[in-house]
Amino acid sequence: MRVLHVVGARPNFMKAAPLLRVLRSRGVGQILVHTGQHYSANMSDIFFTQLDIPAPDVNLGVGSGTHACQTAEVMVRFEPVVLDQKPDVVVVYGDVNSTAAAALVCSKMGVPVAHVEAGLRSFDRTMPEEINRLITDQLSDLLFTPSADADVNLQREGISADKIHRVGNVMIDSLVHLLPASRQCAKNGFPDRYALVTLHRPSNVDNNEGLKSILKALLEINEDLAVVFPVHPRTRQRIVDFGIDASALHLMDPVPYIEFLALQSRAAVVITDSGGIQEETTFLNVPCLTLRDNTERPITITLGTNVLVGNDNRKLRQEMAKILEGKPKKGTVPPLWDGRAAERIADVLQCQNGTVPICSTSEDSPRKEI
Ligand code: UD1
Repeated sequence: MRVLHVVGARPNFMKAAPLLRVLRSRGVGQILVHTGQHYSANMSDIFFTQLDIPAPDVNLGVGSGTHACQTAEVMVRFEPVVLDQKPDVVVVYGDVNSTAAAALVCSKMGVPVAHVEAGLRSFDRTMPEEINRLITDQLSDLLFTPSADADVNLQREGISADKIHRVGNVMIDSLVHLLPASRQCAKNGFPDRYALVTLHRPSNVDNNEGLKSILKALLEINEDLAVVFPVHPRTRQRIVDFGIDASALHLMDPVPYIEFLALQSRAAVVITDSGGIQEETTFLNVPCLTLRDNTERPITITLGTNVLVGNDNRKLRQEMAKILEGKPKKGTVPPLWDGRAAERIADVLQCQNGTVPICSTSEDSPRKEI
């Protein structure tokens, strides 16, 4: 069997690493394609090193651009790679532009697509990632979901149950694998108690008034609890463009995976608009305040430590007060977020290909026999 993996942007790398590792240990032939959507050393290379991902066999080098340009560039440059490599299945991850572009290419070429982290929905089509999720799931032949809500979403959209495999959260596999290493990280002069912040959604950072309002709230929080803020390149550019002074915060460049895990696990609270960080904080049992009106990861609210505060600074202050009083939201770890999701994905891929004799997914899965 030849499995071709497509990764492009930072949140893909921690999802692909565990499956690459498991398939390698089972002797499965693999090809790794990096679209080059993220290209800076601190957004890409360092993640390959820390997550022990092999150097990509092909780098499409698409870089930044408008959504149409970036998506189209991936498609144009990826098609000849698929023709040349002739994979049995192409695995795509998450919801970035590279994910949807690769799925579209393969579906037109009749090459089976497997989507890892399928079925998540924010029901907010102003988010580019929601469009990418909808397209990718419609085009995929195998849909690997992290939680039961995702199965329900897919079935509601008419996707047949026999394509859906609930395997758990593969990003948590990477977390479990590297948490011991993160415990070794030095504290690097950070205060004992701090709020960790990440911010990069266009809806939060591309608008002058909106970004100013968020940073004003963070500067207020910083008076009670130090704010540690690794700044995404998009956000750094906007802070400069809008002439905002946020220098009182502990600003820094994007942080490598292991150091970021250490920062998360030691934080008093994480304030974020990321998707994956809502899940990581739930696993780590660290309170998370999400600067969005909705989430495609509702299980982090129903079971986990996540609270949506939107762009309501009053709500943010109220939730911060609870945390400072030692009364944060408590959570539990969702089922199948156990560090073994990649093994379950590999089982299904090998079963489909007829290279393993017994084909069953987890007890919890909507469909056991395939
Ligand atoms: C992308 C994903 C988003 C994900 C995020 C994680 C889409 C639609 N969005 O958003 O889902 O949560 O990655 O980071 O795919 N830049 C650099 N170096 C890099 C990459 C980007 O400097 O290595 C800068 C460029 O100025 C670029 C900007 O960041 O224009 C935005 O990058 P882009 O990949 O377009 O989107 P993200 O905002 O990173």
